[in-house]
This record gives sequence, C-alpha cells and structure tokens, in this order.
Amino acid sequence: MRRLRQTPTLRNLVAEVELTVNDLVAPLFVREDIDAPVPIDSLPGVVQHTQDSLRKEVERLASLDIPAVILFGIPADKDPEGSQAWNPDGVVQVALGNLRADMGDDLVLISDLCVDEYTSHGHCGIVDANGDVDNDLTLDLYGSAAVAQAEAGAHVVAPSGMMDGQVLAIRDALDEAQFDHIPILAYSAKYASSFYGPFRDAVDVTIADGGDRRGYQQDWRNGREALEEIRLDLSEGADMVMVKPAMAYLDIIARARVEVDVPIAAYHVSGEYAMLKAAAMNGWIDGEAAALEQLTAIKRAGADFILTYLSGEVAARLT
Ligand code: PBG
Repeated sequence: MRRLRQTPTLRNLVAEVELTVNDLVAPLFVREDIDAPVPIDSLPGVVQHTQDSLRKEVERLASLDIPAVILFGIPADKDPEGSQAWNPDGVVQVALGNLRADMGDDLVLISDLCVDEYTSHGHCGIVDANGDVDNDLTLDLYGSAAVAQAEAGAHVVAPSGMMDGQVLAIRDALDEAQFDHIPILAYSAKYASSFYGPFRDAVDVTIADGGDRRGYQQDWRNGREALEEIRLDLSEGADMVMVKPAMAYLDIIARARVEVDVPIAAYHVSGEYAMLKAAAMNGWIDGEAAALEQLTAIKRAGADFILTYLSGEVAARLT
C-alpha cells in the first residue's frame, strides 16, 4: 500500500474523496433588536447579525464561492405559538427578502423551518396542558411558516422540528400556495443531542422547566430508526434528507448513503464546532487540520453537503 503514498501528487491522484467549496452551507443568525453584531461566546467567531451585517457577510461568503447559507432568526418577541415564524415582517422573512434582492439566484437561500426560536417556552411546537408538544396542531404552524419563507424569497425550506407528518404538511401548504417548485430539505434523522448547546445560546432559547426534546427528537441509541425516519420523509415528498449531528453519527450517514439516492446533508453542529475551537484555542490540536479532517470524513461517510460554522474559514483555504 505504501507505494501509492510516496508523494503529495500521487496521494492526490488516488484520493477517494475531496472536500470542495461546493460542499459547504454556512449557518447564519439574524437578530431583530440589535444595532451591532453580537458575538456568541460559546461559538467563537460566530455572531448574531443585524440585517445589515448579515447582508455583508452573505456577500463575503458568496465571494468565496460558497453555494448556500441557512438562516436562523432571533425575534424581539416570543409567544406560545411562535407567530414571528410566519409573520411576513418577521426577522427571517425580512432577511430572506433582503438577501434575495441582493443575490438573486447566485446563492441558495435555505431557511430553517421550526418554531423553537420563536416560542416563549422554547419547544418546537404547540405545548399542551401536560407540557408535551402537540404534533398535529404544530403541523399547521409549519405550513404557514413554509409559505411565509417561500414568499419572502427562500429557495429551499428545511424543517427541523421532527414532528411526524411535517414534510407532507409543508409540501401540501407550499403546493397550495403555488410554491410547488420549492424543495424541502428534511432534517430527517435529527437526534436529541447534547451537541446543540451553543446553538441555543446563539438563538437565545431555553427550554421551559428544564425540559428537553427527547419526546420528538431521536434517541441516540437508535440507528435503524433513523433509516425509517428517512424513508418516511421521502415518502412524504422530501427532496433531500439530513443527518444531524454529524461526527458521532457517521454510521448513520453511511447507512443512509447505501439506502437512498437523494442528496444527503449532514449538520456539523454547534457543539462539534465549539469543541474543535476550544481545543484549538488551547493549542491542544491543530484546528485548521482537524477542521479539514472532520469535514472530509463527513463527506467520505457519504454526505453530499455539510452545514458547518467552519464554512467561511475553510472556503477561504480551499479557493
Ligand atoms: C431547531 C434547530 C436546532 C439546531 C438547528 N435547528 C436546535 C435544536 O433542535 O434544539 C441545532 C444546530 C446546532 O447545534 O448547530 N430549530
């Protein structure tokens, strides 16, 4: 085997997989009630943007040839239903409108579709008297949010709430509103993970009464169940599926790759980014090398593209 490892060019020639800028989607946060970007302590290098700073950042990412961004909003007002998620003047809808006007179709605008950033209790849906999320009542909210995002200029909607039937409800709502051309990127295999911690700082979400999402997100002891989630989402009309988080779930990505032929996305989530940055900032690992290794491993496992907070810095090195 060593004969093929002798020189860098020989190694390049026989490399099985290569990370390129086209594999990267940058997650971005836009917040309503601020007039300057706010750094997120647990996500070094990532900020909550104002509408203006978001526009500049997206222009910068596009100039690095990054093909897509995914947007998350932090509203000034939260309520039990998360109504800012479908208000045409809501923070993400305004951002989508601005960015679509700036960029046209030069960059793919994906909008995360959930209500947890908008609800006062921090859950991904309507909470019933027992404190549980009511799956079916929540589906209507997702349909409204999908239409609002498409109307505002989203190219792709990405439901992340893990409600049963959400893809079908969103597909129906979009089709009915003449948005049958808008694809759905379903967060199909989304685990109830500890690695989302810094993200919740980023979107100012605390789940009420010390709650968690184990009633609707997946149990990380289960692998086969992820494939069933993926199959169900595809049968409901998902155009692309996602596995999230990425690093601890490479087995799921690899199994999904064998089973389905639609594009597979993987989300290298906030906690994965934060661990990498923390170790690098301590001088304990080579952060740049480790970043490339992790993202390439996700691709090797079978992902077609990767949502990652590393997009900007990695793209700058790849181009
Ligand atoms: C839900 C959502 C979450 C993330 C993306 N979409 C958080 C959650 O499910 O609690 C996490 C992303 C990350 O950790 O980087 N809207």
